[in-house]
Amino acid sequence: MTRPRADLDVSSTLLDPAAHPGEDPLSWPDLFGDDRPVVVEIGSGKGLFLANAAAARPDHGFFGIEIAKKYARLAAERIVKAGLTNVRMWPADAGRLMDRRVVPASLREVHVYFPDPWWKKRHKKRRVFNEALVASIARALVPAGELHVATDVEEYFGVIRELVATDPRFAEIPPPPLGDAESDHDYLTNFERKYRIEGRPVYRVSYRMKPALSTERLLPAEPQVVFAAFEKPGRLACWWGPDGFKNTFERFEFEPGGRWTFTMHGPNGVDYPNESTFRTIERDRRVVIEHVSAPRFTLAVTLAPRGDHTLLSWDQVFEDAEVAAKLAPICRPANEQNLDRLQALLAGADEAP
Ligand SMILES: C[S@@+](CC[C@H](N)C(=O)[O-])C[C@H]1O[C@@H](n2cnc3c(N)ncnc32)[C@H](O)[C@@H]1O
Repeated sequence: MTRPRADLDVSSTLLDPAAHPGEDPLSWPDLFGDDRPVVVEIGSGKGLFLANAAAARPDHGFFGIEIAKKYARLAAERIVKAGLTNVRMWPADAGRLMDRRVVPASLREVHVYFPDPWWKKRHKKRRVFNEALVASIARALVPAGELHVATDVEEYFGVIRELVATDPRFAEIPPPPLGDAESDHDYLTNFERKYRIEGRPVYRVSYRMKPALSTERLLPAEPQVVFAAFEKPGRLACWWGPDGFKNTFERFEFEPGGRWTFTMHGPNGVDYPNESTFRTIERDRRVVIEHVSAPRFTLAVTLAPRGDHTLLSWDQVFEDAEVAAKLAPICRPANEQNLDRLQALLAGADEAP
């Protein structure tokens, strides 16, 4: 077993979380010295992936998060010994860092290789790859940013794919090919080397973020109250749409797979027929709506409690980057107006049923 070397100065690479107190997002330009693209690895172990990737892409910044201080130190030693200057190691919990301390849309890639399986049923809640992490990763990645995952545990692999599939922003892509290994260093990670040599199966999946128009709003009500503004058609009709729009709902089946057909009456007197399907409904947490009439998009609304307020994330996801770019000048302000109206309703400024 490799032991850390106390005599090696790793201060250029191994960060001290105590030197970055508080809950504010970390500044990548401060950490890397410029505004290079940043890649995060969660659970870096002894740092083989970071060392290889950082050497292959010296113009990128690599940020390894490793909860075990000893491994974080060993990874930092590997990096320093290799003369690499574009890696920083964060020796603490990845879930916490990804949840609050990453600027939205600031990461080019996230890699999670062989996350601890926590086999026992009662321990599964300790798994790093969970619903909250998926939400954090989706928030952190830039448009067309990538998530790469590998595990040797088939069951965990299935769970990971299911978790990611609930978020319409991720599109599955083929994982990058693995080269033939000529030396011990030609593997993706230490665990990948171990399992490939043992001939055990390795399950891999990769995703690319779809084009999305995303915004967030801190709303003055708890998630149950915000959710009710979606659930109750009389309330929803009061705020849905940009400024000046009114709605007539023809069909409103608020359940997974349920249909929602309605006419939006524009302030210019024009009627706009709409047809949507509710793809996911999780009480007080999440509503995913497929807008099946043109323009096609999927809208994911996520509610997270923030004290007696709610942080609402609004992600309008398009299949096609060109369509998203064309609609952005219309949809961005329309989305903000829509949320202004919801906010006003929740603040009690409007009369609502
Ligand atoms: C099975 S090892 C895999 C290491 C490396 N990715 C590889 O493939 O060789 C899982 C690693 O994730 C780290 N880890 C577990 N939970 C973590 C968390 N919440 N945040 C950061 N690292 C974590 C563990 O300490 C361990 O080093």
